[in-house]
Amino acid sequence: MRHVTLHQLKVFEVAARHHSFTRAAEEMFLTQPTVSMQIKQLTKLVGIPLFEQVGKKLFLTEAGENLYLTCQEMFKQLDQFEMTVADMKGLKQGNLRLAVVTTAKYVVPRLLGLFCQRYPGIEVSLNVANHDRLIERLSENRDDIYIMSQLPHSPEVNAIPFLENPLVVLASRNHPLVEQTRIPLSRIVQEPFIVRETGSGTRRTVQKLLDQHNLNIQIKMELASNEAIKQAVAGGLGISILSRHTINLEGASGQIAILDVQEFPILNHWYMATLAGKQLSIVTQTFLDYLQNEGKEIAIETMHWK
Ligand code: PGA
Repeated sequence: MRHVTLHQLKVFEVAARHHSFTRAAEEMFLTQPTVSMQIKQLTKLVGIPLFEQVGKKLFLTEAGENLYLTCQEMFKQLDQFEMTVADMKGLKQGNLRLAVVTTAKYVVPRLLGLFCQRYPGIEVSLNVANHDRLIERLSENRDDIYIMSQLPHSPEVNAIPFLENPLVVLASRNHPLVEQTRIPLSRIVQEPFIVRETGSGTRRTVQKLLDQHNLNIQIKMELASNEAIKQAVAGGLGISILSRHTINLEGASGQIAILDVQEFPILNHWYMATLAGKQLSIVTQTFLDYLQNEGKEIAIETMHWK
């Protein structure tokens, strides 16, 4: 193994991740024969096959699986070392992978402005998905920081509450219930509802409240997008329960009104969560500190209803 090069290991890691030499070649801007050659040389040095071809599919052998895990660990350590050196030089540099629930997209991108200006060496990627997708990503350790309202029991996380995320009842501005106050929950369930998809944290919170009161709603439409729901509500198709943040830009005086319903707002919080036991990179720690201080201030400014 002493003659194995870092480049060969990188080519192998990418090919193993994609289960394809062609896709590895694309990702690394190499030709397919170059990828094959690098893997051939690596296999020769290891002494046993790393891949096996069954039909058209490419699989890792047991040795291949082992080498893949070793490579992932090694490249992670190298990234960490690169960040440590950058930190010693007084620069904050590296990658930050954020994953946030769909409602947090109304706030988090705004917080990134100042952060990216302050740390131009940090490259941020932001993944937006619903609650269940986020938990899947968390289980696969795909990101550095997760922002969500409902923390999972498994996998275990370290989490700090970061910002209020109240859920409110939204209706079209012309809806007859807009003029009423302290509307009972039993009254709004008579209205047609537009709900988020199964797997959404918002949907789960709404269901929990209904279960507590032994109530059912009539679902008029199920949509996997807060923006689409807002359009449907504004168009008078029904009412909905969404995060107050979803109407940050238009405010409460636009085409959508907030109904004054008993039990509302539901007082949720967003947490910033990291996988328990994961060693936090300097860049991750820098962003967590930023979120807790200036980030939080900027976020509160977007909550003009406060
Ligand atoms: P959702 O999650 O985007 O899946 O509805 C909301 C939340 O956890 O705040």
